[in-house]
Amino acid sequence: MARILALANQKGGVAKTTSAVNLAAALVEAGQRVLLVDLDAQACATFCLGWDPEDLERGAMDVLRGTEIREVVLKTADGIDLLPARIDLAGADQLLASRSGREFVVRDALATVANDYDWMIIDCSPSLGIITINALAAADEVIIPLQCETLSHRGVGQLIETIADVKRLINPRLRVLGILPTLYDGRTAHAKAVLNDLGPRYKVEVLAPITRSIRFAEAPAVGRSILATSPKSKGAVEYRALAQRVMR
Ligand SMILES: Nc1ncnc2c1ncn2[C@@H]1O[C@H](COP(=O)(O)OP(=O)(O)O)[C@@H](O)[C@H]1O
Ligand SMILES: [Mg+2]
Repeated sequence: MARILALANQKGGVAKTTSAVNLAAALVEAGQRVLLVDLDAQACATFCLGWDPEDLERGAMDVLRGTEIREVVLKTADGIDLLPARIDLAGADQLLASRSGREFVVRDALATVANDYDWMIIDCSPSLGIITINALAAADEVIIPLQCETLSHRGVGQLIETIADVKRLINPRLRVLGILPTLYDGRTAHAKAVLNDLGPRYKVEVLAPITRSIRFAEAPAVGRSILATSPKSKGAVEYRALAQRVMR
């Protein structure tokens, strides 16, 4: 049975997608069977893994409407299976709002392929709407990527409260694996101070930070993870370490 891990933060630009893609690639490198689930209408994970969302005829939205997940999943050069997103996923909250059992549509769809994978990594959209609640309702664990700047904190308290509500009301299995500090620049005192404050403030594990690097800007242009484009880079090493941590 696959373990389901969501990367969530309603703030954009905190490296949810980058972390989903590179963690997924690192898990594949470690011999795991991985499905990456793109639940963001901006479809950045889909694009980062080499598929142009505009060329696709089907995506996650079709799965929400009842299409078999196996009919939509794509292969990628990194060896990750991908449930792609297209722009039509922007209508997901509206589609789901009128359904009964609306929080469980993603969970039930993923369950149909749970034996095909060791991991399902969900890249969430920057919102706390119904589609993100679906991701949290499906997940065993959630990682909260967070940029190490004071302003990036805004909203994390609310996210942790939402996760606690989901756990209490609809998904008792759910737990926060940790906060993942991203875009980290250890040379600045400010970033260090923010990093040291995270654990005491939110009372969750703080995972090893991912260092800011230009390598991350290059990889999506060729549709590969940084593990493929810069296998020896610090970022690749750090995401491999994260994969080891989540497999523990
Ligand atoms: N460690 C890093 N170093 C430098 N740039 C990064 C790093 N991680 C992510 N980025 C860049 O930051 C931007 C936002 O990342 P992204 O993963 O799209 O965030 P989100 O999914 O949370 O919106 C992207 O341009 C990405 O390439
Ligand atoms: Mg994203």
